Amino acid sequence: MSNIITDDKKIIIFDTTLRDGEQSPGASMNTGEKIQIAQQLERLRVDVIEAGFAAASHGDFDAISQIAQTIQNSRICSLARALDNDIKQAGLAVQQAKMNRIHTFIATSPIHMQYKLKMSPDEVIKKAINAVTYAKTFVDDVEFSLEDAGRSEIPFMKEIIDAVISAGAKTINLPDTVGYRLPNEIYTMVKELHTFIDGRAIISLHNHNDLGLAVANTLAGIDAGARQVECTINGLGERAGNAAMEEIVMILKTRKDMFGGFDTNINTKEIMRASKLVATITGIEPQPNKAIVGKNAFSHESGIHQDGVLKHSETYEIIRPEDIGIEKNNSIVLGKHSGRAAFKDKLASMGIDNLSDEELNKTFESFKNICDKKKEITDDDIRMIITNEKLVTNVTYELLSLQISSCSAGVPSSAVCIKFEGKEYTDAAIGDGTIDAIFKTIDRITGYHGKLNDYKVKAVSEGQDALAKVTCSVTFSDENPPMIGHGLSIDTMLASASAYISALNSYLSMKNLLSKDTKHNL
Ligand code: KIV
Ligand code: ZN
Repeated sequence: MSNIITDDKKIIIFDTTLRDGEQSPGASMNTGEKIQIAQQLERLRVDVIEAGFAAASHGDFDAISQIAQTIQNSRICSLARALDNDIKQAGLAVQQAKMNRIHTFIATSPIHMQYKLKMSPDEVIKKAINAVTYAKTFVDDVEFSLEDAGRSEIPFMKEIIDAVISAGAKTINLPDTVGYRLPNEIYTMVKELHTFIDGRAIISLHNHNDLGLAVANTLAGIDAGARQVECTINGLGERAGNAAMEEIVMILKTRKDMFGGFDTNINTKEIMRASKLVATITGIEPQPNKAIVGKNAFSHESGIHQDGVLKHSETYEIIRPEDIGIEKNNSIVLGKHSGRAAFKDKLASMGIDNLSDEELNKTFESFKNICDKKKEITDDDIRMIITNEKLVTNVTYELLSLQISSCSAGVPSSAVCIKFEGKEYTDAAIGDGTIDAIFKTIDRITGYHGKLNDYKVKAVSEGQDALAKVTCSVTFSDENPPMIGHGLSIDTMLASASAYISALNSYLSMKNLLSKDTKHNL
């Protein structure tokens, strides 16, 4: 079998954070953000990156093709419905990848065929064969998904699986699309289809978490013979999400004894960074008690537990925090007087050696600005500065200054100065609160009117002078999805203004991508 992994003891990790994960409400990402996540997935050593759904929009197509040109060590895949145009877009988008794949799908459950597709089972089989055959004209590696396999009938699944394997599909994915099944049911389904397929294709699982069983179902499927698992960072995904990659990987590692030695290629030390990056970009933080990557996953509150861990960590810890990349000493070694060379050395010691000269200069400049106001700069601060620099791209509007006034009796007001195409524009406005006043002032200057859907502020490190990271979701037009904006500063109001402007800049660059003739309202 010429597939990506020949080692029998490896489970193929297929990450769909950039496709199914992006289908989480409010998680849409721009191309630059997707590339950053893809690069982190490559550092994690993910085998297959599902980079998007090429036919969904120009933005999706563009992001997939840029990822295909950037990533060297992971296979790049695009999703496509079983339609010629979808498959063509997917084929073109992944064309330049070193290793590529098309993932095509059609629903196979009675309820989906009857009500959604309005097709007979025979028609569905025909469509599936055509899709795989056409996809093979673009790439060698084709995956076929039986959407809603969890509620499909086994005899029909066998029929369609036979047909698509004959047409050239190398991976057969069995999604529990609505997260309905229990682990024993997934085990029985996979076991029967594993015997039926008999090594002609790799079996993959794609479980949704509607009943909180996505990871458990995935493990049951591995037990029954599945060798690829589809998952997302932080369990992001449609509705209640997909199976969380970090949980599957750490279960296989920690309980190797129960899985016949099966393991993954994942570099687990990159897990925490991947989790934080995805949370920063999407603004969706994992719950504090989330397994593996939650804020509290390694905190010991009770005195008895603390005492035990100090005496011997394994009394209460089954995973070493450093194994998922939690640095014990979030060291503070840099400050105001550190030079560029020391800064570069520090980055190298943190494993960050892939910044371009321009990125390094911008990051160093931000670092120096922050040093003026913050005494101690931690590793977390540095990582956030870098992430933020990369997120805030396509700068059409640039925030130059902000003044606010607000007191308990008075009306909150703000004055903002913004640079646009080399000129400076200043205006002022009042609002219901200080943030409202700032956003209204930006609207007055730019002529765009944003509707704020979500606003979050988070302290990057500890202490009163911690950096504030603001993420907001803003809708600028009813025809386009909400834009996520990012801002980072010691000052929460400045970070808020930056985040709002960054959402606007993303909106303009997306519009630019769609029309190639952006109109500014100034
Ligand atoms: O959940 C699902 O069925 C999917 C398929 C497109 C694989 O996401
Ligand atoms: Zn899905």
